[in-house]
Amino acid sequence: MNIKEYTTDILVIGSGGAGCRAAIEASKQDQKVTIVTKGLAFKSGCTNLAEGGYNAVFGYKDPEDSLQLHIQDTLKGGAFLNDPKLINKLVKESPKRLIELETFGCLFDRQDDGRLDQRAFGGQCYRRTCYQGDQTGHEMMIGLKQELIKENVTIFEEIMVTNLLLDDSNKKVLGCIGISQKNSDIMIFKAKSTIITSGGAGWLYPVTSNAAQKTGDGYAIAYRAGVDLMDMEMVQFHPTGMLSPKSRKGVLITEAVRGEGGHLINNKNERFMTNYDPRGELATRDIVARAIYNEIQEGRGTFNGGVYLSVAHLPSKQIEEKLETMVLQFEDIGIDIRKEPMEVAPTAHHFMGGIRIDENCNTNLENLYAAGEVTSGVHGANRLGGNALADTQVFGRQAGLTAAENASKTDSNINYDSTKSIQEEIGLLNSLIGNDGKYKPSDLKLELENIMWDHVAIIRDEEGLKTAIKKLDQLREKITNVKISSDENYNIDLQTTLELDNMIQIAYLIIESAIARKESRGAHYRSDFPEKSNEYEKSFIVNNNKDMTTVIRDFL
Ligand code: FUM
Repeated sequence: MNIKEYTTDILVIGSGGAGCRAAIEASKQDQKVTIVTKGLAFKSGCTNLAEGGYNAVFGYKDPEDSLQLHIQDTLKGGAFLNDPKLINKLVKESPKRLIELETFGCLFDRQDDGRLDQRAFGGQCYRRTCYQGDQTGHEMMIGLKQELIKENVTIFEEIMVTNLLLDDSNKKVLGCIGISQKNSDIMIFKAKSTIITSGGAGWLYPVTSNAAQKTGDGYAIAYRAGVDLMDMEMVQFHPTGMLSPKSRKGVLITEAVRGEGGHLINNKNERFMTNYDPRGELATRDIVARAIYNEIQEGRGTFNGGVYLSVAHLPSKQIEEKLETMVLQFEDIGIDIRKEPMEVAPTAHHFMGGIRIDENCNTNLENLYAAGEVTSGVHGANRLGGNALADTQVFGRQAGLTAAENASKTDSNINYDSTKSIQEEIGLLNSLIGNDGKYKPSDLKLELENIMWDHVAIIRDEEGLKTAIKKLDQLREKITNVKISSDENYNIDLQTTLELDNMIQIAYLIIESAIARKESRGAHYRSDFPEKSNEYEKSFIVNNNKDMTTVIRDFL
């Protein structure tokens, strides 16, 4: 294994929608920008997989909608846990960022008169979700890639970042350290400003819509460095993931299916959603996911343990034009959605919790910024479909701007002696590579996912959460006894072990926050405390260096 050191002005960890937008903006401010990503740039991450759309108000074109209504919907959908300053920024800037994407080369679908088309999405009083068929995120990544290439940003792929670099005071971030998956080289990146945009942690669960890289590494490196994380108990389950075959379990079936008029149906052929919410299929995701769960629990599910989602009553032309990916996704498994229903069940989708930021994407550490799903605050206790893509662009750009401003004021010499970090990393790698232990890392990862699914998923209670803690304690012991091949090139066991260590750390934070919140709000449903309580109109903050604290929301 070799040791490689690089220096840059701005370091962006992650290469999804938020990371690319941050890098573009920082580069436009004349900074030297480097992206480091665990997957392959533009191909990994969740933006690429996002299907249904991007929420933006174009009220000057359509007076029925307004910024105020978008703010209200987001707050209501987030069960009033959202940070109002972040929502304001999201809603006000989202339309500008969409138009900017078009200047990067993305094309959003239009109406016959040339105005942007918008579709209905859950929890919104107006159809304000702009889209490109059911491939919106993919279209965005194409434009972002083109713009990023023009900006000449340096990209390091297949690097797993293992820790942030801190100065002696432990208050300033000076870059990061990581391991190359290709050859186990130790990589040091020194930077004046570092931006975390590494996305969420859907793979804490065995059924997820997320890309394979999403193991919560960004939360873990931030937490270990002393960054405030907030609302960690808030995990969104998208109501409709594929159910079978096993290899496709969890793969997203876009909310656009319901936005276009799709019906959710139980095994008695009943459309059941209005029994739970007058908005029917277009209620917020927390409500729809729990309704589906309930139908299944009460024996009205399908043989495979899901419910049906049908568009067979819609015109074929509409299905083919607006839901092309869905047609192909199901054609691939022998189902023609123009005639037959899809079988669906909830799938782990989005983390509303994460790094605490202000509206300029500052964190509580100097030189460290964050944007996108890795952050918390904007979506509160439950995110509206279509607000995530907007989030990546609004806060990605802002993180790039703030980081660039900081870098422009910072001395060009980054005084960091990497000797100690390198020694620790070498020690870690030597203790893991070739370790002849008892457990296969991938088995332990599955064990963790099952603990989370059984006890920390859609419905929670104190007993289950405490059981999960006990099981995690046992799992943490096992991780010291793993079997890892001695290969230095693409050592999957090594990678899985490092990820698992992060995942366990994050799982504890989710559970501790879920135990603390003795009420039900948004995506966090406690069967032992089924009601929302005024006492809990506050967020829980966890920090490695302090006890759990709270912040109270003030909407006045
Ligand atoms: O269902 C979807 O297309 C997902 C969109 C989102 O999570 O915003």
